[in-house]
Amino acid sequence: MADEIVLRTDALHAGYLPGINILNGCTVEVGKGELVGIIGPNGAGKSTLLKAIFGQVNIRSGSVTLRGEDITGLGADKLVTKGVGFVPQTNNVFPSLTIQENLEMGVFQRPKLYDQRIDEVLGLFPEMKKRLKQRAGSLSGGERQMVAMSRALMMDPSVLLLDEPSAGLSPVRQDETFLNVARVNRAGVSVLIVEQNARRALQICHRGYVLDQGRDAYTGRGRELMNDPKVIELYLGTLAADQEAARKS
Ligand SMILES: Nc1ncnc2c1ncn2[C@@H]1O[C@H](COP(=O)(O)OP(=O)(O)O)[C@@H](O)[C@H]1O
Ligand SMILES: [Mg+2]
Repeated sequence: MADEIVLRTDALHAGYLPGINILNGCTVEVGKGELVGIIGPNGAGKSTLLKAIFGQVNIRSGSVTLRGEDITGLGADKLVTKGVGFVPQTNNVFPSLTIQENLEMGVFQRPKLYDQRIDEVLGLFPEMKKRLKQRAGSLSGGERQMVAMSRALMMDPSVLLLDEPSAGLSPVRQDETFLNVARVNRAGVSVLIVEQNARRALQICHRGYVLDQGRDAYTGRGRELMNDPKVIELYLGTLAADQEAARKS
């Protein structure tokens, strides 16, 4: 693990309805430069964890720290200026705006950043360069994810939170999306990615956590976790089935 912890949640308890916690003591860490995956079945609380970090779910106890600074419960506006980027699973672009306007929205709090950041962001996603005037609503699902990620990157975040960027995409587009995430990480951005697609996520992640009923049940290096029989048996039924199919073919 990297020495410097960029983002840490410590024993988070959080939920939507009074008296009902969805997160039941969730502790995860993202080191500087790390690509960390949170995997777990549907309903495990993956999105809730990201929303709690991003101040969109009531935190009842526990804390969130960014480079050691307590950011528990801060609102989205503050978090963005402090260096937390968030790409929700859906509705993550403005469909009626062009790609360029979406990128401008990414830095609406600091418009001057646009000129400083645009070349680097377009360098990560060169496909967008010629299409800046195209409306985001006319793009494919995979392209929208690219715009959404770019929008978040415009603020030069210390950590990027991604909620299931591969959801709803065809297998080829999923592969492209995972490669994009890995590329963004290699460019130096620490990433916390939440994914139901455990196998593909763990292939690109340095480390992963398996989230079970709002607790981080297991943690380990991406590939170790992927091959841990206990993890496979308990939480990654689809992965086990995949491996079985691969063995037979
Ligand atoms: N807005 C909400 N209000 C009440 N309960 C919610 C809300 N969003 C999610 N939940 C509940 O929280 C639990 C975890 O959901 P979620 O974090 O979306 O899981 P995941 O992203 O792992 O699929 C589920 O039981 C879900 O029904
Ligand atoms: Mg979710």
